[in-house]
Amino acid sequence: MAYDLIIANGTLVSAQGQEQADVGIRGERIAAIGKGLAKPGEAPKIVDATGKYVIPGGLDVHVHLELPFCGTVSSDDWLTGTRAAARGGVTTVIDFAIPYGQQSLDDAYHIWLERAKPKACIDYAFHMAITNWDRHGHEMEAMVKRGCPTFKEFMIYQAEGWQSDDRALFNALEKVKKLNGMLLVHAESARVLDELIARYHTPELMKQHGATLHAITRPNFIEAEAIQRAIYWSQVTGGQLYIVHMSTGEGADIVKAARARGINVYAETCAQYLVVDDSVFAQPDGHLFACCPQVKKPKDIERLWTGVNDGEVCVISTDTCTFTRAQKARWEGDFTKIPMGLPGLETLLPLVYTKGVLGKRITLNQFVEKCCTNPAKIMGLYPRKGVLKAGSDADVVVIDPTQEMVVDHATMETGADWNPYQGMSLAGFAEHTFCRGKQIVENYKCIGEKGWGQWLPRERAGTL
Ligand code: URP
Ligand code: ZN
Ligand code: ZN
Repeated sequence: MAYDLIIANGTLVSAQGQEQADVGIRGERIAAIGKGLAKPGEAPKIVDATGKYVIPGGLDVHVHLELPFCGTVSSDDWLTGTRAAARGGVTTVIDFAIPYGQQSLDDAYHIWLERAKPKACIDYAFHMAITNWDRHGHEMEAMVKRGCPTFKEFMIYQAEGWQSDDRALFNALEKVKKLNGMLLVHAESARVLDELIARYHTPELMKQHGATLHAITRPNFIEAEAIQRAIYWSQVTGGQLYIVHMSTGEGADIVKAARARGINVYAETCAQYLVVDDSVFAQPDGHLFACCPQVKKPKDIERLWTGVNDGEVCVISTDTCTFTRAQKARWEGDFTKIPMGLPGLETLLPLVYTKGVLGKRITLNQFVEKCCTNPAKIMGLYPRKGVLKAGSDADVVVIDPTQEMVVDHATMETGADWNPYQGMSLAGFAEHTFCRGKQIVENYKCIGEKGWGQWLPRERAGTL
């Protein structure tokens, strides 16, 4: 037989176009794409995709699985997190390996690998977080040689021991330029943010405003100023910069203007910033929605969708960092103590498809571009990932465009006992997902195998 599996008669959607074709898979790779491959005897298994979209597996390049953070550990681990991903049509995740205390980048890499390897049912890679420039700066070259060319710095989180100052940003950007790497930056202005938090961190104001203080203390300029500063350091050093989880319209304006000046800065947003606004904090369980940065205003949502359309937002990810109700309850009315983060992997593609494509904000091709192809290209995984092409990994997702499902945490793979999108009716869940030729979702049920996922070495980063 010519193939091990054929996905037949589907509408193949790429970042550029669509075609009716079959996908012939041999082993872990796509062997052929063409019409009429699905002849009797050509494969032991043929999946009929008539009337369905067939897309490359999604890449969520911003996740935190079992992350020690905010005094607890994010509750989706490498098993529940990657099962959730598979059900949502994501076949590759990139997590952030973060050194704590005196740890080296190498220590962090091994700790993350040990957690991921036995549990992951989809493929994965790591961005390396620089939490101490003097310790980690000289370790970057070895990490690039090992296959980790993307680094991360946080402009906030002093209490976690993660914060980078301008010196660290400047140095890291200089270094990634030399190494053909890329620096991902969490851009929020620490000193002013701390000042605003201090002003509002009183028993009276916390009683009066509850979880809405999380939003009140983070006005849009907190993100905008930091994005501007990071872009400036990128401009003067020539180091490739990628702004993670951009949440504001102002941020999108600044990125757009910088790109127009010839600075090749990339920006990602996350599904929550395209769908949820900060009115949620006034709900009785509003604290559940706290993530960092927080969701913003309806006008930011509209501006970010425009950015997805126009190009200044080139990737949509999730920043998955799940906490259960019990973990979120640690806040006890103090907005500075809420474990910050949301579940997201399972709903990334459905949200972008439903709110973006069906909502007529973006095209079907842009959906594939922002969730599959661009993240693969920018993170150095293309054309192995992010495209349906002979020779690429057989990461394939079949979506029935007519099948809507109501989001209910009780029926989901994520371990969370709540969901920010609870009750929403979404199309775009994966009917079938294949990761390197292996079926990991069948008829909307995850059948993924613990440990199937492989760590993905990458040579370089930062080219679209
Ligand atoms: O709320 C979030 N995003 N938690 C994870 C840490 C981060 O800043 O990405
Ligand atoms: Zn962040
Ligand atoms: Zn994050």
